[in-house]
Amino acid sequence: MKALSTRTEQFTDSVIRRMTRISDLHGAINLSQGFPDFDPPKEIVDRLSQVAKEGPHQYAITFGAANFREALAAKQKHFSGMDVNPDKEIVITCGSTEAMMAAMMSICNPGDQVVIFSPFYENYGADTILTGAVPIYVPLKPPTFEFDVDELENAIRKPGVKALILCNPSNPCGKVFTKEEMQLIAGLAVKYDIYVITDEVYEHILYQPNEHVYMAAFPGMKERTIVCSSLSKTYSITGWRLGYAIASEEIIERIKKVHDFLTVGAAAPLMEAAVVGLKFGDDYYENLQHHYTHMRNLFLDGLNEIGLNYTKPQGAYYVLLDISEFGYKDDNEFCEKLAEKVGVGAVPGSSFFREDVNHLIRFHFAKKDETLIAALDRLADIKKKMKQ
Ligand SMILES: Cc1ncc(COP(=O)(O)O)c(C=O)c1O
Repeated sequence: MKALSTRTEQFTDSVIRRMTRISDLHGAINLSQGFPDFDPPKEIVDRLSQVAKEGPHQYAITFGAANFREALAAKQKHFSGMDVNPDKEIVITCGSTEAMMAAMMSICNPGDQVVIFSPFYENYGADTILTGAVPIYVPLKPPTFEFDVDELENAIRKPGVKALILCNPSNPCGKVFTKEEMQLIAGLAVKYDIYVITDEVYEHILYQPNEHVYMAAFPGMKERTIVCSSLSKTYSITGWRLGYAIASEEIIERIKKVHDFLTVGAAAPLMEAAVVGLKFGDDYYENLQHHYTHMRNLFLDGLNEIGLNYTKPQGAYYVLLDISEFGYKDDNEFCEKLAEKVGVGAVPGSSFFREDVNHLIRFHFAKKDETLIAALDRLADIKKKMKQ
């Protein structure tokens, strides 16, 4: 048989999904893959049962149902201040995952270079390989996850650089880029004429006093920013696969073409039901932040009691735990043993870093109180069970 594609040889199956399988094998509480175990807002679910009876059940227009795009443009205006034309500057995709892939395919030619902060969400590695682009990594240095401005500028100024991917708030490190950092990145993007592809899926999951700053809203940035985001995290509907790209008409025209041939469109009944969520008032987003702050505090207080070290997240719903004290060279081995001996699933931090970082593991805490308490009960024995 002839060899399969070299493209798909260059990346492995998702480490997060592998850790989920290992967690299941050992009956561990799975704090590896980031999805909530609580229900989405009732209004959205109720609307879905109505829609099940009334439709739509056929293809929506490929770039997304008109009422969904209109509601999204209004929400984007409300939070970012940006005027977005719902007919020309939005494509509704199957999750932000598709938006990012379509954005990369629309912006990059094979051989173009893309700057990515490390640690990074693992999809970006595969996205660059599948588009033939070459990643240049700029470290966000643990434990504070700040970057060196010269290092960033040296990366961006390289002649083949076409774009920078910015995950803000960041998975896995929970960093929320400050206004000053965003301004600096925007300035470099304009100076060296590159695009910025943002991943803003955690834009509404923030811990005070941190605030989400929209890259596209900086002067000169709307035309060179491709916003990728989704409803997955904001409305706790990761399984609905509703995401979007927002960009200038010229870029969106390209993204529409890629999207049309990749997936045709997002699910019509789910778009219809989710419009209710896009129209929620500010109180929904305030409650969401309260809920996440509660979960974060519950989990971090528990880690404090056990005496574990971590970097406090500013946004998103992950925490990186420092496992140096356990004496493992390999964080993969640590996570496998943790699932087996302690009964809690985590993701080895090395899967997010380009640099040789093996002393961090990632937990996520978008879980019901009882799930977090049960996980903390198990983790209480971690020092006894996991020391080498
Ligand atoms: C940073 C980041 N981007 C994108 C995604 C995927 O989002 P979606 O469900 O919209 O495809 C995730 C999911 O965990 C994520 O953490």
